[in-house]
Amino acid sequence: MVNRLELYRKCIRELEKNDIPDAEFDTACIFQEALNEKNPLFRPDASVSRSCELRIFSDIEKRCKGIPLQYIIGKWDFWKYTFKVGKGVLIPRPDTETLIENVLDICRKNSLKSPKILDLCAGSGCIAVTLDKEINSSVVYAVEKSENAFRYLEENIRLNNSGVKSVMADVLDVKTAENFRDFDIIVSNPPYLTAEEMTELQTEVRHEPETALYGGTDGFDFYRGITEIWKNSLKKGGYICFEFGMGQHEAVGEILKSHNFKDIIYSRDGGKIIRSAVGKLEE
Ligand SMILES: C[S@@+](CC[C@H](N)C(=O)[O-])C[C@H]1O[C@@H](n2cnc3c(N)ncnc32)[C@H](O)[C@@H]1O
Repeated sequence: MVNRLELYRKCIRELEKNDIPDAEFDTACIFQEALNEKNPLFRPDASVSRSCELRIFSDIEKRCKGIPLQYIIGKWDFWKYTFKVGKGVLIPRPDTETLIENVLDICRKNSLKSPKILDLCAGSGCIAVTLDKEINSSVVYAVEKSENAFRYLEENIRLNNSGVKSVMADVLDVKTAENFRDFDIIVSNPPYLTAEEMTELQTEVRHEPETALYGGTDGFDFYRGITEIWKNSLKKGGYICFEFGMGQHEAVGEILKSHNFKDIIYSRDGGKIIRSAVGKLEE
């Protein structure tokens, strides 16, 4: 039987041969998952069973084909929580933590103790679940249209022991919005890639669902639609928080202003890119 260190080195070589960046990190994650240990190399000489070796090879082979690491190991961390992910749902990105900071800030500054929060285009539920866990007496709803993503949303609510209320619906449908009223905060990371950007996707991103990525020809369909349709679901003086892609902030700001949102504040993500906008609905 092969030992852990030998197999580890072999896997890294295989990934490097296939031009996979971060070969060592990916191998470490695949080992942790397959061996169910946090530091599998603490015992480098331990032997790896044949069945485990085959599983590791199969995972490495998938990674060589460009399947995202997160889909292979089936989960990913966001903020302080773990979310199940797989084909059909967007992988939570660290950039999206900017939205979490925005909402926590709004609650702190306005002393909102039990805010009603609505997450539109909820995907895995990373935003809704995190806010529900971080704000004790919040009431959080999450709306998602895709059946596949919705299954992950429900599973992640259960896994994290969260009280988020999930709703399968189309956020661009006016009738859906009419059922939601008196919210303090709407938060959304909608699809925002342009038609042109969709033709230039990285291999890994091509494995993620198009419905989670494509935001219409100019990328702004959801910002226009959500702002217009859902502003009536906010209390007067309520807030909307949007995530968007690099370079989209001015256009999103203009959409918000044209629908009576004021005091627009932009925030940068960890990579210093302007990543989110918060607007306050006029009283
Ligand atoms: C960019 S992903 C964001 C997912 C999650 N909020 C996150 O931050 O990781 C956008 C999500 O919107 C969902 N979606 C797309 N069109 C929708 C629609 N018309 N109504 C509701 N959800 C929609 C997609 O299925 C996807 O889960």
